[in-house]
Amino acid sequence: MVEAVLIDLFSLPANLENIHGLLCNMLQTIEKCCSIPAPFVYVICRQRQGSERRSEHESLLPALGDFQSLKKRLKVVYALTTTAALYTIKQQLDEKDISIIKIILPTLRKDLMKVYIDHLFTAVYQFEFEDLQVASDCKNLQIAEPRSEEQMPPTQDVELIQSEIRMYLESLPNLKGELTILRSSLIPDDIFLHGFTTRTGGISYIPTLSSCNLFSSSKRRDPQVVVKENLRRLANAAGFNPEAFHRVKVDHANAVYIMGKTEPDSYDGIVTNQKGVTIAAPGADCIPVLFADPVKKACGAAHSGWKGTLLGVSMATVNSMVSEYGCNVKDILVVLGPSVGPCCYKLPHESAKEFHRIDPKCVRLFDSASPYIDIRRATRILLESGGILPENIQDDSVTDQDQNVTFCTACHPDKFYSHFRDGTNFGTQIGFISIKD
Ligand SMILES: *[C@@H]1O[C@H](CO)[C@@H](O)[C@H](O)[C@H]1NC(C)=O
Repeated sequence: MVEAVLIDLFSLPANLENIHGLLCNMLQTIEKCCSIPAPFVYVICRQRQGSERRSEHESLLPALGDFQSLKKRLKVVYALTTTAALYTIKQQLDEKDISIIKIILPTLRKDLMKVYIDHLFTAVYQFEFEDLQVASDCKNLQIAEPRSEEQMPPTQDVELIQSEIRMYLESLPNLKGELTILRSSLIPDDIFLHGFTTRTGGISYIPTLSSCNLFSSSKRRDPQVVVKENLRRLANAAGFNPEAFHRVKVDHANAVYIMGKTEPDSYDGIVTNQKGVTIAAPGADCIPVLFADPVKKACGAAHSGWKGTLLGVSMATVNSMVSEYGCNVKDILVVLGPSVGPCCYKLPHESAKEFHRIDPKCVRLFDSASPYIDIRRATRILLESGGILPENIQDDSVTDQDQNVTFCTACHPDKFYSHFRDGTNFGTQIGFISIKD
């Protein structure tokens, strides 16, 4: 069932006399058809540059009072660009957890509107489009010759829309404070640039994604353009090139992508010896693990959840550095980023058994139905048995006089995202590393 209706009057001429009647008819229809419960209705109007807000469509407003059931649910949004209008409305839809939306718009606007929608929304939202019914005596609405229905907008239109969106997002303020990057003093910063992100300093506004979400999924409400803007801000703050950035394609397994070779469809580890290329692994409880060999100047990143930990993704990444770049395992430094701690993380008994097999110390309350699991300790044990020196591993058993990095994601809602804590619409932080030029 349609939960919200957007009426797009953005492209209509400001001096349109009939607009008042047009809107009244439309609202009458909406009120009649969707009486219980009345949907939320948003009317998009263009705000002229330099003009007083509302000046053109001022005359609309008195009429809106006539629609009692819609009154509180009707909002006229004036904006300089379609992006600004849609982004404002998206925030209100998200606040109400609305995902089924009907857009009533001039036929001519449909193709362009679809481009905006594709960029600013995700597969969580369902849109239906309806032509704005224009009275036949209203000649003013014949803005141009209509294009055929399914025609794609020309590439230059798409590019204009993309740059309008980019500029708009770049202009938004940081939310929840400054962007903060955690760094380990184990990794020498004359050779490597690295860090772990926290959740502040981005533009994502949905509570569980706010604000520096660095992963977009069709199941969540942050579109790629927002994640890209967050990444741009991170890259600016950290000093890397966001265009030369590669993130693992999470599969909860142990495949490793060696940059420059064939890219697997999915992989949880990535290694490189190319300078200036930033590689990254996400985590929202799972451990982002960073690897650095200052001798051979190679680095790696891995995403290690409980499955990946059991499958040995960290040692798989180490082994790739050894076989591809001739690294000596004793030179490789490993840092475990923010991740769910043994204080909070539980698994069913069956899975706990496998951690118990690695070392009984990885499990607490083993006899209970869902024992507490220490995926970090399991990671350390597997790395040490693979030849990594204990002192070359930083995790929560190591305290650093400069900065601790292996915080518990579930315990610190102000600093980190946690899937376990936040549910389906969770945000993601990352660990990133590159070799300096
Ligand atoms: C790191 O954690 C330890 C133990 O909690 C603490 O003593 C130390 O002060 C922390 N370091 C910093 C820089 O906060």
